[in-house]
Amino acid sequence: MDPSSADRSGSGLPGTNQLNDQFSAAEEAEIARITSADAAGDERAIEAALRPKSLDEVIGQQRVREQLGLVLDAAKGRGRAPDHVLLSGPPGLGKTTLAMIIAAEMGSPLRLTSGPAITHAGDLAAIISGLSEGDVLFVDEIHRMSRAAEEMLYMAMEDFRVDVIIGKGPGATAIPLEIPPFTLVGATTRAGLLPGPLRDRFGFTAHLEFYEPEDLDQIVHRSARLLDVPLTDEGSAEIAGRSRGTPRIANRLLRRVRDYAQVRADGVVSLDVAHKALDLYEVDQSGLDRLDRGVIDVLCRRFGGGPVGLSTLAVAVGEERETVEEVAEPFLVRLGLLARTPRGRIATRAAWEHLGLTPPAAGTAEATLFED
Ligand SMILES: Nc1ncnc2c1ncn2[C@@H]1O[C@H](COP(=O)(O)OP(=O)(O)OP(=O)(O)O)[C@@H](O)[C@H]1O
Ligand SMILES: [Mg+2]
Repeated sequence: MDPSSADRSGSGLPGTNQLNDQFSAAEEAEIARITSADAAGDERAIEAALRPKSLDEVIGQQRVREQLGLVLDAAKGRGRAPDHVLLSGPPGLGKTTLAMIIAAEMGSPLRLTSGPAITHAGDLAAIISGLSEGDVLFVDEIHRMSRAAEEMLYMAMEDFRVDVIIGKGPGATAIPLEIPPFTLVGATTRAGLLPGPLRDRFGFTAHLEFYEPEDLDQIVHRSARLLDVPLTDEGSAEIAGRSRGTPRIANRLLRRVRDYAQVRADGVVSLDVAHKALDLYEVDQSGLDRLDRGVIDVLCRRFGGGPVGLSTLAVAVGEERETVEEVAEPFLVRLGLLARTPRGRIATRAAWEHLGLTPPAAGTAEATLFED
């Protein structure tokens, strides 16, 4: 098995992982970027050391922490397995971390698998029939599970029962199998892709939001402590501010700045060192990288702000269409630097300002772009 694909699915269990798809150009580009929210191949091991181990250690996500804490405390009080929990949100915000915390807080073992690893209902039956009372079953990327397995999961979640099919063809029989109460924790970056019946069977859904810079600042401080990296408050704030609201990126930038501090300075992550290191890695003040800036730069300088079709834009920056669309655009749209319109992509006023350019003057044809 390709180790990088195994790592990407987030499950460390051998045999539960059959995520063997070839990555598309956009996925390759995404994984290789320093500002990618996805974990690179060797990153999972490093991340394990930085994961908060209890709810109290989790930084930010106040509401989710409080809601989840209540669900878990109530279950503990009743001496029962907590309701099934769905964790949804963009990559790198702490879904796997929270799944592990749920098991730890309940004092239960965590069984790990992932949607892509469950290609047949039988795969799921094998996993579920091996569960003991109170176990926490973590299904990462749950939106990528096969239809048949999904239906089996509905029944397991609701009635704590699975039908195991023995034999093939007309002679096949379904043997109902009772399973002890367990807690399913599903994680998804695409909650919208989950079928309604599956979504409805979760007793609690936690929506993870991008982190505030102050939270990321605390996360950087915490990680630096764990990694034994000397860090100033200004250095930490600088890293936090360029981390795109994502703890995984904050931790990665911290490691790159630490390298710089060690090789080119006195080992301390100060403001100056953070500046120089992040400039070297081409991550700017807002967390934009070279590709992100390239896209708005081409839009503004070469096409007067747009509108420009995606294909033209992709050729102009020398990338695949998908890479521009899936890798660069989401963050640019989130920051309000780029808008997707029926006529094509346009750079907003903020994009011109971000590049230090003067936006088209009011009253000109270009300026009408900003008005709808
Ligand atoms: N609230 C937090 N406080 C401190 N560190 C955090 C927090 N959330 C996430 N992290 C750090 O960010 C890293 C990535 O988190 P995690 O693996 O849980 O993300 P994820 O949502 O599961 O991502 P993916 O969608 O790629 O699976 C972890 O190593 C962890 O150290
Ligand atoms: Mg994860």
